[in-house]
Amino acid sequence: MHPINPNNEYNHMTQQEGDRQQGYGLLKGKKGIIFGALDDRSIAWRIALACKREGADFVLSNAPIALRLGTLDALSEETNAPVFPCDVSDDADVEGLMKKTAAHLGGVDFVLHAIGMSPNIRKKKEYNDINYNWYQQTLNISAVSLHRVLHFAEKTGVLNDRASVVALSYIGAQRIFSKYSDMNDAKALLESIARNYGSRLAGRGIRVNTVSQAPTKTSAGTGIKGFDGMYTFAEKIAPLGNPSADECADYCVTLFSDLTRKVTMQNLYHDGGFVTSGISEEMIEDLAKLYSERESGE
Ligand SMILES: NC(=O)c1ccc[n+]([C@@H]2O[C@H](COP(=O)([O-])OP(=O)(O)OC[C@H]3O[C@@H](n4cnc5c(N)ncnc54)[C@H](O)[C@@H]3O)[C@@H](O)[C@H]2O)c1
Repeated sequence: MHPINPNNEYNHMTQQEGDRQQGYGLLKGKKGIIFGALDDRSIAWRIALACKREGADFVLSNAPIALRLGTLDALSEETNAPVFPCDVSDDADVEGLMKKTAAHLGGVDFVLHAIGMSPNIRKKKEYNDINYNWYQQTLNISAVSLHRVLHFAEKTGVLNDRASVVALSYIGAQRIFSKYSDMNDAKALLESIARNYGSRLAGRGIRVNTVSQAPTKTSAGTGIKGFDGMYTFAEKIAPLGNPSADECADYCVTLFSDLTRKVTMQNLYHDGGFVTSGISEEMIEDLAKLYSERESGE
């Protein structure tokens, strides 16, 4: 702990902010695999930095094409973590990654799945005019990959007893956000796989959860048409506002830590209270004004 002292560097921040920057050693001695860091806006990137701050060692992984397009080497240097390429839609790649990880780290205590991709969204195909091959790819990369990762992690023996697995989800799994298209389906499947695998791994004390994060400005997020509107809508309704990627990282650290040993098979909302809110006063007032202006203009 850093006592607040007018002469020290924490002078201009609260004690909690100072503690957070230093970390709490919550993941000291823990090892993990982090999937999905592409550039420094990626939620997985922020999670990797938070895991490092908390004392963890890990390997970083992403699809070979993403390694060419992204900037993962910089994160690798900063966190002293090797990068192992792996396309999570490919069985052999995932098995190979698990073997390499076992050779490098021994067993792992945590896994982050922060992977999502929809060719239909990228190519602007409407949900009711979907390309079925691309739909399969969306589900395979964004959801079935969690199953595949857990399957090969178990098979290769790399997953330690009492490990913690977190996959990032979105409220599109429960509610329809039209622009999120087939990713709504992928997230529903992802959450179901987390529950099903969670029940099977619980005998070894391993927990599997999804974190349902609010809209966040990243490559995947901003690639969705209408994202800014979804972001603002959530921001206006959530009493605490949208959480940032760094705040998501802090939450995930708690789930990887020993402080959450009996939390499993849950979809955990990290959304500033959006999921249980109706509408904010501010939005009611703004909408009332907007519609009355429209009506009087008609
Ligand atoms: N950004 C948001 O608004 C938001 C909100 C809730 C949940 N999420 C989820 O968070 C996770 C991370 O997304 P992000 O917003 O940080 O964006 P991002 O684009 O930085 O991360 C998505 C990652 O998936 C990887 N990926 C795609 N295809 C892959 C494949 N075949 N094999 C391996 N990796 C592959 C990409 O290379 C990329 O690193 C995703 O699951 C996303 O759905 C994002």
